[in-house]
Amino acid sequence: MQNFVYYAPTKVVFGRDAEKKTGALIREQGCKKAMVVYGGGSVKRSGLLDRVLASLDESGVSHIELGGVVPNPRLSKVREGIGLVRREKADFLLSVGGGSVIDTAKAIGYGVPYEGDVWDFYTGKATAQASLPMGCVLTIAAAGSEMSNSSVITNEDGGLKRGCKNDLSRQRFAVLNPELTYSLPPYQTANGAVDIMMHTMERYFTTEKDLLLTDALAEGLMRTVMECAHTLRGDPENYAARANMMWASSLSHNGLMGCGTVEDWASHQIEHELSGMFDCSHGAGLAAIWASWARYVMDADCARFARFAVNVMGVPRGADDRATAERGIAAAEDFYRSIEMPTNIRELGYELSGEQINELAEKCTYYGTRTIGSFKKLGREDIVKIYEMARG
Ligand code: NZQ
Ligand code: ZN
Repeated sequence: MQNFVYYAPTKVVFGRDAEKKTGALIREQGCKKAMVVYGGGSVKRSGLLDRVLASLDESGVSHIELGGVVPNPRLSKVREGIGLVRREKADFLLSVGGGSVIDTAKAIGYGVPYEGDVWDFYTGKATAQASLPMGCVLTIAAAGSEMSNSSVITNEDGGLKRGCKNDLSRQRFAVLNPELTYSLPPYQTANGAVDIMMHTMERYFTTEKDLLLTDALAEGLMRTVMECAHTLRGDPENYAARANMMWASSLSHNGLMGCGTVEDWASHQIEHELSGMFDCSHGAGLAAIWASWARYVMDADCARFARFAVNVMGVPRGADDRATAERGIAAAEDFYRSIEMPTNIRELGYELSGEQINELAEKCTYYGTRTIGSFKKLGREDIVKIYEMARG
């Protein structure tokens, strides 16, 4: 087990009607003027935005709005938000939405006190030293941004999707009302299930040993997400399933599942290039490449994949770890199919050309300057092979 630091400072306010406390939560932070960030309109249609604004009014928190954040959120919207906060002198950022909205607010938070270009934080040219305080009202269980220290922004100039990790972006509070996710289309619920699972899988597939507790937590979380995803197919307003899925979203990506492990993240890096190029949903993109990644790297530690097969996918243990591992990967693909997620890039809706594969691999290695993954280190040629296997 590796040494680790576990830091999860976000105050979680969980349950029915939790959004009514939003104004008081902002006041608790000593803030008086919030910029409320939201997406393409779901929070207006559902009436959530009005309820949240009413809560702010009740607590004497004034507000301005920045709507129109799109999935795979764009740098131009971040810049617009930075300008607005500076002009209006807001002192708090409140996200009402999912990962795309929260990530936009995180980037705005870094950008406001910074004199240079906020994109510097996403290229690694600079490290943010300050941020505006922020909190969120979550509407989709998926990205885990509500408790993570990361944000992912797409620069329209070149379709570059890049992440930035910094504890300054931790939300001061996360309002988690599972009922707010009842209105999700089945496709978004399924995307979320895949992403939540993957945030744990990226930490679980490690060559580290003796992770008795972390492994047990991870396996329980993954089984729970699969069960809830199946329940929600036929019963989207099942409170217990929505609630467990939402809590899994936060716990999967707040660091708990990585305590003591060496994390991998190759599948995420490979997927981010896909959603950077095609603007596909992140969860579906992960489903489309995961099994190819798994088959490519499994020989680095077949026993680990066999454990996943038995303890997560419910596959009977065979005499041979490799065969058990292979059955576990196939079972994960069956799970994706059962919630109508793709298992390759063709099913995701794209026919990849050789030229596109080369471009994706180039970008994924930051133009030859890095390898990805730790379960098995992957260079450009490995990444090309995984895209080829995932082509379908
Ligand atoms: O824009 P609106 O109209 O609100 O619609 C959204 C959007 O179209 C809709 N939606 C959200 N809540 C809803 C709803 N529709 C009906 N009812 C509701 N209650 O769902 C769509 C997707 O929203 P988005 O915020 O994009 O989803 P998600 O939370 O999956 O976020 C995805 C983004 O997060 C990044 C991804 O790469 C992607 O850009 N990630 C962020 C991470 C982080 N910050 O820690 C980690 C992840 O690995 C991930 O990379
Ligand atoms: Zn993810």
